[in-house]
Amino acid sequence: KADIAAKLDAVIRRVPNFPKPGVLFYDITSILADPESFRLVIDAMDQRYQKDDFDAVAAIEARGFVFAAPFAVHRGLPLILIRKAGKLPGETISQKISLEYGEDELHVHLTDVPENGRVLLVDDLIATGGTLSGAASLIRKAGGEVSDLFGVVGLPFLNYSDKLQDLEITTLVDYL
Ligand code: PRP
Ligand code: HPA
Repeated sequence: KADIAAKLDAVIRRVPNFPKPGVLFYDITSILADPESFRLVIDAMDQRYQKDDFDAVAAIEARGFVFAAPFAVHRGLPLILIRKAGKLPGETISQKISLEYGEDELHVHLTDVPENGRVLLVDDLIATGGTLSGAASLIRKAGGEVSDLFGVVGLPFLNYSDKLQDLEITTLVDYL
């Protein structure tokens, strides 16, 4: 686990003052550009959830899609897209979310969420937890059960666990 964190830490790019002054942005595109690191993430997810029996994987727009998709294919699980307003063509339900840099609304296709199914929620990074907390409410509204939350990167200094109580959270590398 410490080994995985160290390997990812070595490739994650830091961008100071993005998207606004004073913010140190942890950029995961450098993981994607390095196939070995990208594979390391997917293998670590597979290991972590080896004993878990999910009915579906739900991915959060946009960077959550990138990690959720290969994992879902690898495990033979349905992939559910959680998208921002105005993007999904079918009947959706929605949930307002509060973000580090403002407000937004998440949507999911009603027919994509399995009734009482166990859903793993996947994103690239957990900051304030607003996105995953909203996504969990959304999945529940649609009739599913959220069993676990996954983020490649965690920023625990933004206190995401306050917003994600009662949920099992896994991150591969944390920045303090
Ligand atoms: C970022 C990140 C997470 C979220 C984390 O997404 O990818 O989804 O913010 O922040 P939180 O824990 O404070 O909610 P962003 O809204 O920048 O969207 P993008 O992936 O579409 O670029
Ligand atoms: N990196 C990437 N995405 C983010 C961050 C960050 O530091 N904070 C909120 N979303």
